[in-house]
Amino acid sequence: MILSLIEEAQAIDWYEQRMSVEKDKDAKAIMKNAQQEEFKHFGMDLEFLLRKKPEWRTILKAILFTTGDIVKLGKKGEEKVD
Ligand SMILES: [Fe+2]
Repeated sequence: MILSLIEEAQAIDWYEQRMSVEKDKDAKAIMKNAQQEEFKHFGMDLEFLLRKKPEWRTILKAILFTTGDIVKLGKKGEEKVD
């Protein structure tokens, strides 16, 4: 599942690169739709992994959907599992 997560991230990146050079508005819209689909897959893979790895979830809960200094939040998350 980790490799699947990586592959979904790669797919998101490929669409990002292709969209950055695409001139055709309709082609770009189709790629954006496809990229959002890959992002959904990425999220599902990540959630699957976090359900299997409670420590990863603890760290990410300190970082994701927050505001403030991301590095500090990351350290705070790590401290919660130490
Ligand atoms: Fe996908």
